Amino acid sequence: MDKLVIEGGKPLSGTVAVSGSKNTALALMAAALLPASGKTVISRVPDLRDVHTLANLLRILGARVDYENHTLTVSAANVSHLEAPYELVKKMRASIYVLGPLLGRFAKARVSLPGGCAFGPRPVDLHIEAMRKLGATIELDEGYIVAKAKRKTLIGAKLNFKLVSVGATGNALMAAVLAKGSTQIANAAVEPEISALAKLLVKMGAKIDGIGTSTLEIEGVNELYAVREENLCDRIEAGTLLTAAAITHGKITLTDIEPIHIKAILQKLEAAGCTIKTTANTVELRAPKKLNPVSIVAKPYPKFPTDMQAQWTALMTQAVGASKITDTIYAERFKHIPELNRLGAEIDINGNSALVRGVKKLKGAKVMSTDLRASASLILGGLAAEGTTEVLRIYHLDRGYEKIEEKLRNLGASVRREQYDEFASPKPPEED
Ligand code: EPZ
Repeated sequence: MDKLVIEGGKPLSGTVAVSGSKNTALALMAAALLPASGKTVISRVPDLRDVHTLANLLRILGARVDYENHTLTVSAANVSHLEAPYELVKKMRASIYVLGPLLGRFAKARVSLPGGCAFGPRPVDLHIEAMRKLGATIELDEGYIVAKAKRKTLIGAKLNFKLVSVGATGNALMAAVLAKGSTQIANAAVEPEISALAKLLVKMGAKIDGIGTSTLEIEGVNELYAVREENLCDRIEAGTLLTAAAITHGKITLTDIEPIHIKAILQKLEAAGCTIKTTANTVELRAPKKLNPVSIVAKPYPKFPTDMQAQWTALMTQAVGASKITDTIYAERFKHIPELNRLGAEIDINGNSALVRGVKKLKGAKVMSTDLRASASLILGGLAAEGTTEVLRIYHLDRGYEKIEEKLRNLGASVRREQYDEFASPKPPEED
């Protein structure tokens, strides 16, 4: 198993290019199931475990998937096995993204219910409700969602999500584009990933209005065509790297980033005392000597993202004063806090909020990753801490950050990846 060993206290400096977006790539890959012929080519796809997990799922469904130099090619002509197995879906919840396109194109699908994850239950009731409204019968059988269109195709409908859901909006979009008639999706997610998915579908020949707004209007078409598309940059990786510069009192420049996608994060970094300069595709951050405490409330886009909540919590351990971190999306997304407290942070959890009292210094220690963004949070803590921090179980990290230790090393951090035996227990002292 791998761990990262970090010698803290080194201010980050330099320039780094942001990788392609994990969450956008996953949505675009699912959409590549829709064209019945040709090759969908997606560039700037990050080399991540989650991407390869979904690529393998597409192959199990019968697609031909190739990945080289961050370009992913999908031929969906021979897709015929319409089942997403538990073994893959339990590894990555986003596998549920194949439900919409399989139902939309083939009028049936059998997709394993995703399990929960480290930060709580991850229900899919909104996905199921949307498919039912689009004319599918859905049964739950041995942990699988068994979906079947009542007629030859799905039928357009009025959908109105009771809460904003990125995944359910994506699935509804991919189901509706080949449905008969028109569909309206109200209270749709407006994350950049969803706008990028909608733009790809339009490029494929779908008819979608309202892209970028919370009300999407779709007119079903008979067929979609394989196209080429460039993936977005990863806004969460960008936010994580900027927060790493802030917590180490450094100065870095990110390239290949669209500042508009991280506006809420930049606003909070400025409030914390950072100086931010942006151009069309770069962001420069200069950190202050002392960080102001800045409270955040994680909400759907364009507000502060829940996927940056753990990283912000780490940063606020170094602020001069107290701040409150609230997550309105995942009430239990605080597994990183006991580990940050092992580094000397003073954080108390109260329901879906955490109170962070800024401390002078963190001290290196062994800490355990519990999920993707928690791993990032612990790395930030280690970068700031005095001495050596070992972040264990970083297989979580490899799901969503491409070569993050290389990027950090190029910015002056002392971080290396090492193997370790998770189950080796310390030996008792030798008998005299
Ligand atoms: C996406 O997950 C992201 N994953 C998550 O990023 C991100 O945290 C989340 O959106 C919120 O922004 C991908 O894009 C692959 P939701 P998703 O449906 O689609 C509840 C990361 O770190 N809900 O928008 O699964 C749900 O419990 C990952 O990269 C229902 O109640 O999230 C949550 O409270 C982690 N019923 C809220 O909605 C449903 O059917 C938002 O979840 C679906 C969701």
